[in-house]
Amino acid sequence: MTVGPVAHGGHCVARHEGRVVFVRHTLPGERVVVRVTEDRHPGFCRADAVQVLEASPHRVERPCPYSGPGKCGGCDWQHVTPVEQRRLKAAVVREQLARLAGLPDVDVEVEELPGGALRWRSRARFAVDRSGAPGLRRHRSHDVVVLDDCPITAEPAARAVLSTAWPEAGAVDVSVDANGVVTTTRLDRRGRPQGSSVLRPGSDVPDEPAGRAERRAGGRDWEVEGTGFWQVHPAAADALVAAVTGFARAEPGETVLDLYAGAGLFGGAVAPAVGAEGRVVCVEADEAACAAADANLTGLPQAEVWQGEVDDEGLADLLAELDRGPDVIVLDPPRAGAGAAVSRRIAATGARAVVYVACDPAALARDVATFRQAGYRLVALRAFDAFPMTAHVECVALLEPRPAD
Ligand SMILES: C[S@@+](CC[C@H](N)C(=O)[O-])C[C@H]1O[C@@H](n2cnc3c(N)ncnc32)[C@H](O)[C@@H]1O
Repeated sequence: MTVGPVAHGGHCVARHEGRVVFVRHTLPGERVVVRVTEDRHPGFCRADAVQVLEASPHRVERPCPYSGPGKCGGCDWQHVTPVEQRRLKAAVVREQLARLAGLPDVDVEVEELPGGALRWRSRARFAVDRSGAPGLRRHRSHDVVVLDDCPITAEPAARAVLSTAWPEAGAVDVSVDANGVVTTTRLDRRGRPQGSSVLRPGSDVPDEPAGRAERRAGGRDWEVEGTGFWQVHPAAADALVAAVTGFARAEPGETVLDLYAGAGLFGGAVAPAVGAEGRVVCVEADEAACAAADANLTGLPQAEVWQGEVDDEGLADLLAELDRGPDVIVLDPPRAGAGAAVSRRIAATGARAVVYVACDPAALARDVATFRQAGYRLVALRAFDAFPMTAHVECVALLEPRPAD
């Protein structure tokens, strides 16, 4: 078949005898032979390109020997030049905003982060098979593909997990911090943490227990819980801080909310701009992340951490406790997005700027649609290639109240 445009999820769309086929391991415009991998829906099936008859000029040899049809499902685009990967991601963001947010003309450019397309992953979860061998899962499967290396993962982190067996474990989380300290957390088969250990640079002997990891962004150091949330790409936190502070343009005396705050990255970065007269409230559900945020905001008395759920009710309680409405709201929700209720609640504040950080353009586009219905407009968008070789992309959107007619 001849392959059509790229779609959200890392595949391209083709048509065969009236049916839609989502094809992986290919590129728009290629002529390929496919093998159907899933045929459960009347309207579409999934397939892998197993032979390329006419190759795209953007196709390259895969640098990772474990990627390709039927192999490791970790990456989507090892067979694509990094420049073209960014064009494909831009096309996906554009298409999601057009289809789900009703915005057909958004100009999207996906910006490259420094460091190249390999060895960028500073945090990962590896799967473990029944024999204790570590690896990653096949695409849309529970099967574990056993790996000796993962070329997109920072070498010390990949080595710490993949050079040893993990009997009885279900998965292993790993992170490597700014000082090269590697933290591994073993999870049981139900995903519950069973203990962590730390490997310092130059040592082969893990220390226990794990402490805090150190990260750098926005010209300062940040503490994070060992394998706790932090941007995966080592240059992403810096790039996102610049995008968020640039969109927020916080002024002295303003009130800023940082929702889904993690270790306080964005709240801590905007706090100096609001000054001693201003106020920054970071809201985060995870206890360990709140403890890290408290430590990171020491020395910024205008910033505080509230442990709690960002949901309709939690947000209503928070807003009721503020002595003035927020001027700026930054939000960085998990993959599913903030959802309609939270987006409506944010829009109802009338904040002069909403800065939305999103790791899924579909969730972003759905929430942008809600903001638009609630009187906001999308004013600017930046997108970053924070996950090279995969179809993932990180976006930062600026929403502002629509001027009255
Ligand atoms: C994508 S991370 C963002 C963290 C931070 N902005 C950063 O860049 O480091 C999302 C964070 O939201 C938290 N979270 C997820 N659901 C939440 C909820 N309903 N309420 C509050 N926090 C939540 C997670 O624990 C995680 O720390």
